[in-house]
Amino acid sequence: MSPDDLKALVRTVPDFPARGVQFRDVTTLIAHGEGFAAAVEHLAERARAAGAEAIAGMEARGFIFGAAVAVRLGIGFVPVRKPGKLPVATIGIDYALEYGSDRLEIDPGAIAPGQNVVIVDDLIATGGTALAAAELLRGAGARVEHALFAIDLRELGGAAKLRAAGVAVEALMD
Ligand code: PRP
Ligand code: HPA
Repeated sequence: MSPDDLKALVRTVPDFPARGVQFRDVTTLIAHGEGFAAAVEHLAERARAAGAEAIAGMEARGFIFGAAVAVRLGIGFVPVRKPGKLPVATIGIDYALEYGSDRLEIDPGAIAPGQNVVIVDDLIATGGTALAAAELLRGAGARVEHALFAIDLRELGGAAKLRAAGVAVEALMD
């Protein structure tokens, strides 16, 4: 499946979650067996080329793509969770959203020192989520040099922010 075929499977929903926003929705992409498999295959090829030793994905949509990529490569998956979900002592990071703030947490024991962890998520917008995840994973001892997304909303500048933090960014579509 070509990048254009994959792009055609992403639904655009006007005025969600706020008036004037064109929401790019991957629900329709992952519901399409061939499309989902092709997207995972492309992401897995890039993660393999990046030398991934583990995949980290952000709750919730990052779990869908990230876990599938990890299985494809036969490597582990590190869930980067919203607060209060993990049953062990966690490390966390607060990050700014357009309105307000949120928090991500991980189990520091899930990462081996110096492990090459590749971030996978469905979409990068402002980059706040991925940047926070990269900092958090690095704080736990990971090497974080690559982040992969199905969609890059380029005009929001997230990829540039990640690159400035030493994280190479690739996406299947803009
Ligand atoms: C979405 C998306 C990314 C993030 C991108 O997740 O899945 O993780 O926003 O935005 P950013 O680049 O501006 O940080 P959301 O927080 O909506 O959570 P969800 O996966 O639970 O829907
Ligand atoms: N789609 C999905 N998630 C998002 C978007 C979007 O257009 N913008 C910010 N997060």
